[in-house]
Amino acid sequence: DKAWTDVIAVCDLEPGDATSVTLGSRELAVFDAAEGVFVSLARCTHGAANLCDGHFDGTHIECPLHQGLFDVRTGAPKAAPARVPLRMFEARVVDGMVQILI
Ligand code: FES
Repeated sequence: DKAWTDVIAVCDLEPGDATSVTLGSRELAVFDAAEGVFVSLARCTHGAANLCDGHFDGTHIECPLHQGLFDVRTGAPKAAPARVPLRMFEARVVDGMVQILI
């Protein structure tokens, strides 16, 4: 069964940016986006880059390695060479804590 699991306190996020969080065996990217908090796996689906090292404009994360682009609201790839969507997690904020359903 899935359960809501604490990831990081909202106050520990990089404001308006992407924060890398290790949760068990998962490396997550937590995006403080214009439309809320979104969580994906941190690794780019194109190669061995942590997306949190890339440029975040509040909606799209640009991979630091080859400049692939993803919409963090959906995980959808938006610019080559990114083709495979990001693995997104259902996320919510409760009492100042970011949680995901895993
Ligand atoms: Fe991210 Fe290539 S590793 S675009």
